[in-house]
Amino acid sequence: MKILVTGGCGFMGSNFIRFQLQNDPTVEIINLDKLTYAGNLANLADVADNPRYRFVRGDINDQALVDSLMPGVDAVVNYAAETHVDRSIMEPRAFLEANVMGVQTLLDAVRKHNVSRMVHISTDEVFGHVEEGETDEDAPFRPRSPYSASKAAGDHLCHAHFVTYGTPVIVTHSVNYYGPYHFPEKLIPLFTLNLMDGKKVPVYGDGMQVREWIFTEDHCRAIDAILRRGTVGEVYNIGTGERVPNIEITKKLIALTGRDESHIEYVKDRPGHDRRYALNSEKLRRELGWAPQVSFDEGLARTVEWFRQNQAWWEPIRTGEYLKYYDSWYRDQLDASDNV
Ligand code: DAU
Repeated sequence: MKILVTGGCGFMGSNFIRFQLQNDPTVEIINLDKLTYAGNLANLADVADNPRYRFVRGDINDQALVDSLMPGVDAVVNYAAETHVDRSIMEPRAFLEANVMGVQTLLDAVRKHNVSRMVHISTDEVFGHVEEGETDEDAPFRPRSPYSASKAAGDHLCHAHFVTYGTPVIVTHSVNYYGPYHFPEKLIPLFTLNLMDGKKVPVYGDGMQVREWIFTEDHCRAIDAILRRGTVGEVYNIGTGERVPNIEITKKLIALTGRDESHIEYVKDRPGHDRRYALNSEKLRRELGWAPQVSFDEGLARTVEWFRQNQAWWEPIRTGEYLKYYDSWYRDQLDASDNV
């Protein structure tokens, strides 16, 4: 099978490419990635010379480029996206370009070139805040951040393309993923590195917001099952049931890094912060026989250990653009922390 992976230099895309090359000796991968701030060739340095792997730098919105890559491609897996909620609050436009227009461009190309299937990676955030219970695949979309609104729009385009043109697309909604190569703007890698450096960790609001967590390997296994055995036109939720308040994760990371609770700094809450997500992922288990294999505690320990062992990966990232973003976002969060 020849797979076009878009956004393959990001955290999840790179883990997926490595997973495919390791687990399917016949798979061929083209990785189309724009190399935005979160795309990093170092994420795939270990497979860069694999003859079954090819990297192409470019934008999913570049229709001519996308068209030129399609001949011979059996499947497209779309990881390309702007993903960070805080950045979408600061500058939403890039989110619309990647997460809405980019999806349309890929769908059009899949249709035009008769590609057998496309898997579009999306998020539980399209369902918005879930006060109680769980959201299943049919729950209404209620996105509440510029990021989740852009992802919801992309998901709607997938559905519309399937219904209107029969484009063979599958949409996945995943809970929060974490693990090796996670860009250190997200909660787990950011807090891990701050704690390893002996710095404080900025907990938004009261820290009682709940997220559901999946280790990257389990997510790769889920996408693999959906790609190979899922039904086109369908939607699959990908979750583990492991729902943890942020403050509890913070305390686990403090323990794993040998720090103490004086490193916790409560700061202003994220505007529009969703309080809780909870996915019902029974369909994926029932229909495709998938189940998570790595518990949250095990995955968290493995993640912290990976960051401990891979300073050469994260040190160059925490410079330039990253520091500029970090300083400007957290300056505002800290300035207003009296309001917490
Ligand atoms: O739910 C899936 C989503 O998970 C993905 O669709 C998004 O692309 C991904 O960014 C992630 O979104 P979150 O907003 O949940 O992830 P983040 O790591 O930014 O935040 C996780 C929780 O931690 C959230 O409740 C906000 C809180 N947080 C985050 C940061 C960066 C803090 O308290 N302090 C922080 O400094």
